[in-house]
Amino acid sequence: MPVDILVGTQWGDEGKGKLIDVLTRDVDVVVRFQGGNNAGHTVEIGKERYVLHLVPSGIFRKGVKCIIGNGLVVDPVALVEEMKGLEERGVDTNQIELSNRAQMIFIYHKMADRLSEAGAKTKIGTTGRGIGPAYTDKMRRIGIRAIELKHPERLAELFRTECAKYNKLFAAAGAETVDVEAELAKVLAAAEKLAPRVCDTVYSLNAAIKANKKVLFEGAQGALLDIDHGTYPFVTSSNTISGGACTGGGVSPRAIRDIWGVIKAYTTRVGEGPFPTELFDASGENLRQRGREFGATTGRPRRCGWFDAVAARYACMVNGINKLAVTKLDVLDDLKQIAVCVGYRINGEVTDEFPASAAELEAAEPVLEYLPGWECDTTGATSYAQLPENAKKYLARMAELVDSSIGIVSVGPRRDQTFSAE
Ligand code: GDP
Ligand code: IMO
Ligand code: MG
Repeated sequence: MPVDILVGTQWGDEGKGKLIDVLTRDVDVVVRFQGGNNAGHTVEIGKERYVLHLVPSGIFRKGVKCIIGNGLVVDPVALVEEMKGLEERGVDTNQIELSNRAQMIFIYHKMADRLSEAGAKTKIGTTGRGIGPAYTDKMRRIGIRAIELKHPERLAELFRTECAKYNKLFAAAGAETVDVEAELAKVLAAAEKLAPRVCDTVYSLNAAIKANKKVLFEGAQGALLDIDHGTYPFVTSSNTISGGACTGGGVSPRAIRDIWGVIKAYTTRVGEGPFPTELFDASGENLRQRGREFGATTGRPRRCGWFDAVAARYACMVNGINKLAVTKLDVLDDLKQIAVCVGYRINGEVTDEFPASAAELEAAEPVLEYLPGWECDTTGATSYAQLPENAKKYLARMAELVDSSIGIVSVGPRRDQTFSAE
């Protein structure tokens, strides 16, 4: 029953796509379990660079089944575009299964997302993909699930009904309304392409587990964007932590073996919200440039800062991480000295606990510890032994501070820039 989960332990973009691609070398099934096309997972294979939004990052491995689970919110038009883009580049998309229980995102969700951001006093800085409104509809029990892609007449009726409701709200707000029939035509075209991929993935996944197939869950976003455990309200609308894999895939917690936490050697964040170790000076710009820290989904420059061990330890705790995959160590290669946040000073008091309130976190000043840099190129390293001593010490300190152990180290975007630390 080898079922593992891989999740992000920061504010997303830790390098999950790369790690999933590497780990699926010997996996049979990869499963996305939450989020939607707010995710942007980059996989580099040779000279090719792919950015995946809904398609699981196991797609580049022949014979690997790629499940889009029941916990997602799926924009059917965007999924078809993504699949077409992959097919044009010679990638086989027949390995994809879409859960009949997954919720769907439609144009009105995207419009509502953008409208609410435009009018909000406290902006979240969403990706504008309609994620929040689609999960809201799910919880209000008025969402439309992927099963309807197999029933075009029913789908059309549901779509028209929901559009009419949303159009009333849009009109009342003086906003643009949905051109219902034009949008419906796009949805029905997508339905035709996706219908053969829609199935009961809960059964197929559990059958695979029973048959002793290797299954890997692919988290999107990161623990600090989790709807319960993140920096609420500056979060996404799903449970991004490992616990979400069971509900978002339809699998028992008893099936889970290892929980991988992908962790950057520093910290980034896209969108609004508190970020205690954020750097506003040249060192932040240096991380952004060296790490190519620009959003894979929206292209926005990512905010950059030092490694925050308080936040990461909290993330490891709520996820139950037993293996860390440290990424982007190479981005720190040129630094003389590297800072790590080991505590927060909030209203004069020092704590090593991650506060529940965004206001408190906003007030937190990082307590920094300085470690010597290694000032040499690690991008060609192919084993842990080849790393400079100070890089090994930095990794050991990271692991100690977050109370977990390092399984993999990544020193570049490519598959071959990855090695075991065990
Ligand atoms: P994800 O959302 O967690 O899958 O991460 P993204 O793909 O949004 O962002 C990670 C970025 O870092 C991508 O451009 C990757 O190609 C790149 N990347 C991954 N691992 C490494 C690494 O070890 N070093 C460097 N320099 N880049 C990496
Ligand atoms: P991956 O899977 C980084 C952020 C947005 C915003 C907040 C809410 O690539 O790591 P949403 O559109 O979800 O309602 O936006 O969450 N966000 C991400 N940040 N990586 C992601 O995904 C993200 N998905 C959402 O920037 O702050
Ligand atoms: Mg990303």
